[in-house]
Amino acid sequence: MRASYNGYYICLPSRKWRFDSARPLRQTFSNLMKHHQVAERVTDAYLSSKDDLAHWMLKEHVQVVAANAEELSKKYGANEDLAVAGAWLHDLGDAFVRRHASDHEAISVREACKILKDSGYSSEEIREVTEVIIALHSCKEGNLPQTPEGKVLATADAFAHLSTDFYLQFAWKHMPEGKSYEEFIAWVGAKIERDFHNKIFFDDVRDEMRERYKALKIVFTRNNI
Ligand SMILES: [Fe+2]
Repeated sequence: MRASYNGYYICLPSRKWRFDSARPLRQTFSNLMKHHQVAERVTDAYLSSKDDLAHWMLKEHVQVVAANAEELSKKYGANEDLAVAGAWLHDLGDAFVRRHASDHEAISVREACKILKDSGYSSEEIREVTEVIIALHSCKEGNLPQTPEGKVLATADAFAHLSTDFYLQFAWKHMPEGKSYEEFIAWVGAKIERDFHNKIFFDDVRDEMRERYKALKIVFTRNNI
C-alpha cells in the first residue's frame, strides 16, 4: 500500500475556486460522498490554526491517514464514508489546541460532531464515527476495534506513523511534553511497538512496514525494545 493524495486532489476543488464560489461548491459536494465534505471542513480547521504543528499534522499526517483509509476501505470492504471521515477527524483537536491541553479530547469530539452533522451524517453515523471508530483507534490497553471501519482507521494511522517522519516530528517538538529523555525513549518505544503489533490489522500492511518498524526501533530506542 502506498499513501497517495490523488483521490483528494481530484475530488477537492482548488482553494481559489472554493473561496470565489461557495454556492456552486455546495451543489458540487451534494453529488460526492459525505466524507469529501468532512475533508473540506477539516482542512479549513487546520489551516485556520496559527500553530505550525497543526499545519504539519494536516499535510504530513491527517491527509496521509485519510488516503490510507480510503485505499484500505476499498480493499477490505469497509464503509468509506465512515472510515475515511474517521481518518480526517481522528486528531482534530490538534487544529485547535496543543495535544496535551486538558480540553484537547473534549474539543476534538465536539468539533468532530459538528463537522459530521454539517456534512450530512445521521446521529447514528456520528455516534459510530466518534464513539466506535475514533475512540478505539489507539488500541490501548486491549481496547481493540472490532468493526472493519475501526480496523481500517487503526491500520491507516499506524501506517502513517511508521511510513512518514511522524516520530522525528514528535521528538523535535518534545512530545509528550514534560517527560525526561529516558521517559521519552520508553514512551516512543512502546508507541512504535503498539503501532506495528497492535494497530495493524492486515498482514500485507504489516509486511510492508516491517523494515521501517525495525529501523525506527534502532533509531529511537537504541534498539533496546
Ligand atoms: Fe493519528
